[in-house]
Amino acid sequence: MIITTSNPDCILRPWREGDQAAIVCHANNRKIWRNLTHTFPFPYTIPEANSWVAIANADPRSIHMAIELRGEVCGGVGSVAGRGISQATTDFGYWLGESFWGRGVMTAAAGALKDHLVRSGQFARLQATVFAWNPASMRVLEKIGFVREGVLCKSVTKDGELIDSVMYACIP
Ligand SMILES: CC(C)(COP(=O)(O)OP(=O)(O)OC[C@H]1O[C@@H](n2cnc3c(N)ncnc32)[C@H](O)[C@@H]1OP(=O)(O)O)[C@@H](O)C(=O)NCCC(=O)NCCS
Repeated sequence: MIITTSNPDCILRPWREGDQAAIVCHANNRKIWRNLTHTFPFPYTIPEANSWVAIANADPRSIHMAIELRGEVCGGVGSVAGRGISQATTDFGYWLGESFWGRGVMTAAAGALKDHLVRSGQFARLQATVFAWNPASMRVLEKIGFVREGVLCKSVTKDGELIDSVMYACIP
C-alpha cells in the first residue's frame, strides 16, 4: 500500500528488505534518538535495522511506513495500536533524517498518515507524546490538527534527565 501526501515528491510505503542501509544512514543520529522512546536504538547499525525491517509489518493493527522523498527513504512515520482498555487508541510517532529537516516533509508525511487513520475509522483517539524539549515536533502535530491536551510532569527519563512530556491528541 502506498499513501500519497500533500507533497508530490513524498510518499509513504511499507518498510521492506533493502531499506537497512538508508535506515542506518539517516537514523543513526543522537539528535533523533534523543526525541524517541527507549525502543529506538543508538547507535543504529545494520543489526538493529535488520530487526526493524523484520518486525515493522508484524502487527496488523499497527502501521509503520517509510517516508520516501523523490524515491529515497529519509525517515519513518507510524502508529502503534493500543491493547486491552486502550484498544481504541493509537500512538503516533515519527522521525526524519536531519538533512531533510525544516522543509515541511514531516508535516506532509504525518498529516497523510493521520488522514489515513482517520479515514480507516479504526480508532477513536490518535495520540502523540512529545518530550518537552521538542518544539518542532509539537509544531508538526499542531499543523496536522492535533490538540495539546496537557503536560505530563516528570513522565520521561531520557538522556540522563527526568523531563516533562506533552500529550497531543486528535479525536476524529
Ligand atoms: C521533529 C521532526 C520530525 C520535524 O520534521 P520536519 O520535517 O523538520 O518538520 P516540518 O518542517 O514539517 O515542520 C517543523 C515546524 O517546526 C518549527 N520549528 C522547528 N524548530 C523549532 C523550534 N526550535 N521551536 C519552535 N518551532 C520550531 C518549524 O518552523 C516548522 O513550523 P512552521 O512550518 O510553522 O514554520 C524532525 O526534526 C525529527 O525527526 N526530529 C527528531 C525525531 C523527533 O523529534 N521525532 C518526533 C518525536 S515526538
